[in-house]
Amino acid sequence: MMKTDEKLIIKGKRIDGRKPEDVRKMKMEVGVIPNAEGSALVSFGKTTALASVYGPRPLHPRHLQESDTGLLRYKYDMATFSVDERKRPGPSRREIEISKVSREALEPALFLKKFPRTVVDVFVEILQADGSTRVTAINAASLALADAGVPMRDLVVGLSGGMLDGKIVIDLMGKEDNYCDADIPIAYLPSKKEITLLQMDGRLTPEETKKIVRDVLHASKKVYEKQVEALKKKYSE
Ligand code: CDP
Repeated sequence: MMKTDEKLIIKGKRIDGRKPEDVRKMKMEVGVIPNAEGSALVSFGKTTALASVYGPRPLHPRHLQESDTGLLRYKYDMATFSVDERKRPGPSRREIEISKVSREALEPALFLKKFPRTVVDVFVEILQADGSTRVTAINAASLALADAGVPMRDLVVGLSGGMLDGKIVIDLMGKEDNYCDADIPIAYLPSKKEITLLQMDGRLTPEETKKIVRDVLHASKKVYEKQVEALKKKYSE
């Protein structure tokens, strides 16, 4: 983690005016890409992710098909223009890793065994990056899967937390991510009370780690409510 002389928490407020436990302003909308089976546009502050879902559809080449289950494929991609310093096009190691852990974060929510020999493709494009992109992407993907009508146990909710200037903060923005002591992205499946993604960058005591996880799960209720609201909005119009 980098060091800075700049104070990132002043009089209990973060640089964008939030309290430590506040989530940034969220925007969520489903059904934004007509050609996809399901889609969603999700932003947390300036971080914006667009997800589209295709399938379940027959998997080709056929030798990759599984006779007893369908497969999930997940592609996380950062647009070249999403960050200050142009991101090289094509998958980086970072994007390959994020794609893998995000797929594993969503799989427990899906009934893929109902669709043998098929694949469900999830493509997530980060249009603008300002911290916590992988969890923003997971929220968008989860909504797009629901919008596509893929049978699910529940929505998967994503949110990050961390330690900044000795304080626990929720939903880190880019600058906080750069200079925090530690950050923990989490994905959670509420109906099973199951954490499906948990990563950590930085150093924390076991007690601090537990407290951050608890606080993130608590704040994730607001994210879940916003997801449900976005889905209801489409189907009430
Ligand atoms: O985005 P997330 O927190 O899930 O993953 P990260 O690898 O910890 O990246 C943290 C932040 O660094 C991103 O959200 C971006 O704001 C920024 N970043 C960047 O500016 N350029 C990159 N090539 C990758 C990340």
